[in-house]
Amino acid sequence: MKLRLARQTDAASLARVEQTRPQAAGWGESGFAGELGQPCARIWCACEENEIIGFVALRAAAGFCEILNVAVLPAYAGKGVGYRLLAHSLEELKKQGACRVTLEVAQDNKPACALYKKAGFVPLGLRKDFYGAGRNALILGTDV
Ligand SMILES: CC(C)(COP(=O)(O)OP(=O)(O)OC[C@H]1O[C@@H](n2cnc3c(N)ncnc32)[C@H](O)[C@@H]1OP(=O)(O)O)[C@@H](O)C(=O)NCCC(=O)NCCS
Repeated sequence: MKLRLARQTDAASLARVEQTRPQAAGWGESGFAGELGQPCARIWCACEENEIIGFVALRAAAGFCEILNVAVLPAYAGKGVGYRLLAHSLEELKKQGACRVTLEVAQDNKPACALYKKAGFVPLGLRKDFYGAGRNALILGTDV
């Protein structure tokens, strides 16, 4: 598995991965294309035989970073792809200087919550009923 930064030409492939995961942000191809054009945006992708199998999309500026969208193809789930992507993204942020990293996740999204906990994220806050009645959003963060 190789990790690399996504390029503008990857928008359709990223959207295909995202489409397999209803819990992802739902940007679609045009959303990824727009994001890849933003100077503070980075999308790290994991590739197997030159095909994108997972990604972590973030925006970083002035010592703050927000993780905005994460997904791994179901066929590759549970094989360490998400963790490697996240750990690599945090390492790269650290190389650029100290950074506070935050994200939002549905409290009932157990795989994602466990992944972020393993990567060192801790709860910073809770948005009650954010995704509808009884579905809370957790705000998580870590310092790198
Ligand atoms: C969340 C997601 C990216 C995890 O990717 P992954 O490659 O399957 O995760 P990994 O194999 O790297 O697992 C890393 C850790 O995550 C947790 N985890 C992963 N899958 C899990 C599952 N099905 N149940 C519980 N914990 C899980 C575990 O803590 C695991 O560490 P361990 O293997 O030491 O137990 C993937 O499930 C996914 O794409 N989900 C849908 C999209 C999504 O939820 N995005 C996040 C929105 S905020």
